[in-house]
Amino acid sequence: MSTNTIVVGCQWGDEGKGKVVDLLAEKADAIARFQGGANAGHTVLVGDKKYILHLIPSGIIYPDKLCYIGNGVVLDPFGLLEEIELLRTQGIDTNGRLFISSAANLVLPYHKLIDSIEEKKRGGDGIGTTLRGIGPAYRDKVSRNGIRLCDIFAPDSLKQKLEHNRKIKQEYFAGCDDDRADTAKIFDDLQRLAPLFEPMMTNVSLDLQRLHREGKCILFEGAQGALLDIDLGSYPYTTSSNTTVGGAMTGLGISPKMIDEIVGIVKAYTTRVGSGPFPTELVDQTGNELREIGGEYGAATGRPRRTGWLDLVVLRHACRINGVEKIAVTKLDVLDRFSTIKVCTAYKLGDREMAELPLNPAALWDVKPVYRDFPGWNSTTAGIDKFEGLPENARKYLSFIADDLGVEICLISTGARRNETILV
Ligand code: GDP
Ligand code: IMO
Ligand code: MG
Repeated sequence: MSTNTIVVGCQWGDEGKGKVVDLLAEKADAIARFQGGANAGHTVLVGDKKYILHLIPSGIIYPDKLCYIGNGVVLDPFGLLEEIELLRTQGIDTNGRLFISSAANLVLPYHKLIDSIEEKKRGGDGIGTTLRGIGPAYRDKVSRNGIRLCDIFAPDSLKQKLEHNRKIKQEYFAGCDDDRADTAKIFDDLQRLAPLFEPMMTNVSLDLQRLHREGKCILFEGAQGALLDIDLGSYPYTTSSNTTVGGAMTGLGISPKMIDEIVGIVKAYTTRVGSGPFPTELVDQTGNELREIGGEYGAATGRPRRTGWLDLVVLRHACRINGVEKIAVTKLDVLDRFSTIKVCTAYKLGDREMAELPLNPAALWDVKPVYRDFPGWNSTTAGIDKFEGLPENARKYLSFIADDLGVEICLISTGARRNETILV
């Protein structure tokens, strides 16, 4: 029987979803992205080739997999074509196997302009967005001013919709000498692109249902992580979509009955890029070492990522809201040389100790982590291919995490490459 699996990030993104999806995709027939946009940067390393996927599912590296972009994704059509072209130069042909929902909302140049204007206006309280136009595009979707992929094939109504958007965005566009606000140019560009998108446009919900009925195996690839979820994350320092399992249902038009397995991706420590509270953040030498050893620089924006110890309060929340039963722990190798490794088991707020996130995420600025110390293993884990082969202290660290979360570990990653993986 085929197993349909959802892969979701359990922290603040960049957990290594790209690597794990690429590995799991070997056994899948189709891979589907359900939310987010080009704010995502999913890295896949195969041999000496590095691929960074923003919109295209990480399964595309295999020549025979079908890849789907769901209606829950906000699609930058210009960015997607660049991504397709870059893959082509790297020897990956997407022709005839990359499909996009006709209902996907488009990220247009004016969304990126608005994203940067709003970030500037927020001043010191900025969210630190990726400036990829994600928030403004989802806002247009929710307020029903969005332009969807299917709209670019109906020129008259597209023109009207763009004109309406020009009017309602005057607050941003007035006096703005930026061609990203030029809706007439956007219209012409979209008309030019339409024939390229026509063969890719489909009803993703129907296609996935058909594949499912045929007994095919489908992998669902989340972007970002639980703490960036618009509803359940560290609001307002989140992205603008549901990064958790519910997002897969609405973002693809599928039923929860189609899902067999939910795999949460957990980095062996924590990172965050952009602003917002981060209770276990290390702004010291240890934090710098985690960043340098882990190569913690954004795959989408190149920004240095903030780093800190593993946070079980965050992970308990992520596992509960996603129904995670299995986790894939990534980047264990990054901890190889630390003499002491800390795990946050609870927060303290004043005299109160809490095992779960506070009701108001604003309190995350004030909580103090309660740590449990683990002795390091001071040896290399890269290349070890069995759980039993890991140093005893590494096994103790991993078992403690799995026991606390009440989950099984199904995969341990000890390097960015496919073969640097322990399947448990
Ligand atoms: P994603 O957004 O969740 O797909 O993660 P990113 O690709 O943004 O960031 C993860 C980074 O860690 C990438 O550079 C990966 O190549 C790298 N990576 C993934 N797994 C491992 C691992 O186990 N060890 C090390 N050292 N690097 C890893
Ligand atoms: P992947 O899929 C890490 C963060 C941004 C910012 C906040 C809002 O690679 O894990 P947005 O542009 O979405 O409005 O920014 O969310 N963010 C990510 N952080 N990984 C990501 O994606 C992210 N996508 C968005 O840095 O703090
Ligand atoms: Mg990333």
